[in-house]
Amino acid sequence: MRLPETIRLVLAAAIAYLLIAAGVPAIGALLHPGTWPVVPSHLLKICLFFIVVVVLLYGSSDEKRWRRVRSELHFFFGAPEIRVPRLAFIGAVCLLGAYIAYDAVRPGFEMPPELRSIHPAPPTAFSINGKTYDLLTLKNPLRADKSAFSANVRAGGEIFFKNCFFCHGDKLDGKGPFHDAFFPLPADFRDVGTIAQLQESYLFWRIAAGGPGLPKEGAPWISAMPAWHRFLSEKEMWQLILFLYDFTGHEPRAQER
Ligand code: HEC
Repeated sequence: MRLPETIRLVLAAAIAYLLIAAGVPAIGALLHPGTWPVVPSHLLKICLFFIVVVVLLYGSSDEKRWRRVRSELHFFFGAPEIRVPRLAFIGAVCLLGAYIAYDAVRPGFEMPPELRSIHPAPPTAFSINGKTYDLLTLKNPLRADKSAFSANVRAGGEIFFKNCFFCHGDKLDGKGPFHDAFFPLPADFRDVGTIAQLQESYLFWRIAAGGPGLPKEGAPWISAMPAWHRFLSEKEMWQLILFLYDFTGHEPRAQER
């Protein structure tokens, strides 16, 4: 029995593809026993493209063959007697497409190839609510007011427990009730790797601008840290910063000259 022309063409394409996808690694395995080299997927896609082009050229190069392909396709897509297998085939193709799309956008848990910079370089200046801050000279204005220090720390603590502890934790250790819903994890302020090595102006920028304000080095993960300038006043953010240092016992890093 002679297979329909269209099936022969599809089979030819599949065999050519398999020859490259499995044949090339097999040659590698012969040359270096014990290994199985991988053909890069973008190379396979390019090969697949050329295979399809060649098969289409071959199928249409001969008038008689092309007519057979066309009548087979007309039969497959038009004949009422094969309605059920046709619908099943089209359904299967749609499901396969849906799976491929799902697989491509499904979030993975593998480490991304690029490293994320936890403390990306801040901009030299940034603006919020129409006001521009120069990060090189910006200082916590509340530090100077010694008499109001404890009241400011207290106010900062209240703001923290109303807004931040859900993620950063009531011990400021980054283990709030929602912390494990996020990746990257909320910062652990007790760890010497976070606020202890940062300037207050840096914290001000990070709190005000949040995850959305991170520069590209802060990618590829998207930080869930909210942009607090939309919810808190400037004074509240400085009070928070006093509280973070006071509670953890860390000293802010001094301004460099
Ligand atoms: C929805 C969870 C969430 C809330 C609420 C939240 N944060 Fe964050 N925060 C994060 C995450 C996640 C990170 C780590 C990723 C990053 O650096 O953006 C972070 C990072 C930070 C950093 C940067 C620390 C560093 O080492 O660079 C500071 C400062 C900070 N948060 C302060 C606050 C303050 C203050 C509040 C409350 C006003 C707050 N956060 C509320 C999720 C949160």
